[in-house]
Amino acid sequence: MIDQDPPIFITLGNRKGGVGKTTSVINLASYLAILGKKILIIDTDPQANCSSILLEDYDDQNTRSLIDALEAPEGEALLSEIACNTHHPRIKIVPNTTRCMLWERKIAQEAEAVIGIRRLINQDPDINKYDFVFFDTPPNLGVMMNNALMASDYVIIPIPPTDQFSLDGLAAYLELIGSIRQHNPNLKLLAVLVTKYDPDWGKSRQNLNQIKKYFSQKGISIFNTLIHTCPEIDMAHVERKTIFESAPRSCGADEYSTLGKELLEIFNVIYDKKFI
Ligand SMILES: Nc1ncnc2c1ncn2[C@@H]1O[C@H](COP(=O)(O)OP(=O)(O)O)[C@@H](O)[C@H]1O
Ligand SMILES: [Mg+2]
Repeated sequence: MIDQDPPIFITLGNRKGGVGKTTSVINLASYLAILGKKILIIDTDPQANCSSILLEDYDDQNTRSLIDALEAPEGEALLSEIACNTHHPRIKIVPNTTRCMLWERKIAQEAEAVIGIRRLINQDPDINKYDFVFFDTPPNLGVMMNNALMASDYVIIPIPPTDQFSLDGLAAYLELIGSIRQHNPNLKLLAVLVTKYDPDWGKSRQNLNQIKKYFSQKGISIFNTLIHTCPEIDMAHVERKTIFESAPRSCGADEYSTLGKELLEIFNVIYDKKFI
């Protein structure tokens, strides 16, 4: 048996919806897969947008979901076996389903509610065959967000400078990360990702400067790569495709590939330049 390094576990999180969490998981994961990396996505959002875009067989989420794994008796469900095919051979996804909301309500009061995913990962040696595990997360600070952070090494916070509410909610999200760190000391805030940036929108530059100042005062990095507003990204979602499948020459494809390379450079992960 070949010893393999464990994957790098990354949550894309923000307590606010519509900030580009799902879009960034899909397209970042997809670009890393294009570069030859093996990716597992765990969809912790009951809205399951990531699952519905990536699943090769949409019906899979009714029979092989994250909730099936979490509800199975201990040791009887492996995430690596539940993981479903996507259109890309190097990306698998553990899908979510609306049943998640019932599960969350049922489990919320139990002390172990927030360590379910971490336990599933710990009992599954085949998780080590992946290079990266990405968690897409719901727009709240509930049980699933806690589970994702408890199982992660890093958090990326997508923030569109146009969205005042997502800026307002940041302090609470940073507080949650701080409190999870007491139980999961591996967790680090990797960087903020500026999404849906539109320099022509009235207060964009002002808000971007405000974000830069806020995070630099806290010693938190911002990715050099900005993701601009790109109509082709919306269209890719309508087609249930990644930006690389739908519009490979768009600025969205260009920026998510630059972001992918920036991420690999941060982790010092080697990739084969022949793919670029
Ligand atoms: N860079 C972008 N340019 C244009 N539209 C975007 C971009 N990123 C995300 N969107 C759109 O914004 C909406 C919310 O994005 P999504 O990734 O679903 O956010 P979240 O997962 O945080 O709720 C979607 O309709 C998506 O198509
Ligand atoms: Mg989403």
